[in-house]
Amino acid sequence: MTGAANGIGAAIAELAIAHGHRVMLTDVDKDAVTARARDLGARAAAHALDIRSPADWDRAFDAAEAEFGAVDVLVSNAGITHTGHARDLGPQQHRDIVEINLLGTITGTCTALARMNTQGHGHIITVCSMTSFLPLPGYATYCGTKYGLRAFHHSVAIEERDGPLDFTIIHPPSTRTGMLDQEMADPSCAISFAEKSYAPEQIAETVVDAITTKPVEVVFPPFAGRVQRIAGVFPRLMRRVIPMAEAKGRRQREKLLTVAGNPRPGK
Ligand SMILES: NC(=O)c1ccc[n+]([C@@H]2O[C@H](COP(=O)([O-])OP(=O)(O)OC[C@H]3O[C@@H](n4cnc5c(N)ncnc54)[C@H](O)[C@@H]3O)[C@@H](O)[C@H]2O)c1
Repeated sequence: MTGAANGIGAAIAELAIAHGHRVMLTDVDKDAVTARARDLGARAAAHALDIRSPADWDRAFDAAEAEFGAVDVLVSNAGITHTGHARDLGPQQHRDIVEINLLGTITGTCTALARMNTQGHGHIITVCSMTSFLPLPGYATYCGTKYGLRAFHHSVAIEERDGPLDFTIIHPPSTRTGMLDQEMADPSCAISFAEKSYAPEQIAETVVDAITTKPVEVVFPPFAGRVQRIAGVFPRLMRRVIPMAEAKGRRQREKLLTVAGNPRPGK
């Protein structure tokens, strides 16, 4: 489980353990993930893993195998954003987003493919984003990485279709984590507030359920998510509809900011 110290990853780890799974929580923030695993008891362990590092991936898999035996499921969840319009981000910020969200997840998937094919079973779950269907203002490079990640995930799943592995990709919408707090602080990301946000525990339910049901792809919310997926196919439609959604998001964001002591919308 990557990015397990906070947000959606922490919620998935907690629920998976409640369902009887054993979880190796990993994160670039070693102290935070160690503390999180300690709180979760004997079915949890922690290991530092910066998903950009191939050597870290090998060490984390070795540690998980030593602790629990063969890794049955990889949940690739870690991701970041830097908010702002593309013209306002520096080159390193664009690079960080690509290196973590896209290249880091690719490195992890390839590490898992080798090990899981050798052991003869495994399930790769990629936590992606609804932005992999809809390009949004304030998220240009982030959306680019999530579009790319979806294409990579499905390409690999097709390449491996005759092998023993299963593949699931899950696309959360706005979810009330530190990432959404970061977006709330930047008006250029107002579109995130156009629709209702979800609690990380709701996304975790879908991910933990996917460990047994193995769906190919899950969008949120089930109906509106399908509409968004279709809208993303038509660029002229997107150019008309997305500015309207952005205006709604700005109004919603203003309302949420006026609720004293409530930094996270919907809570
Ligand atoms: N929050 C949302 O609105 C939202 C919506 C759609 C998709 N997502 C996706 O869900 C995933 C989790 O996001 P979140 O909202 O829980 O974010 P978060 O910021 O709350 O947590 C992300 C975790 O990833 C870790 N991380 C960052 N860089 C890392 C690296 N290089 N290696 C390993 N770990 C690293 C962080 O330390 C943190 O613990 C991300 O892939 C994100 O893109 C989030």
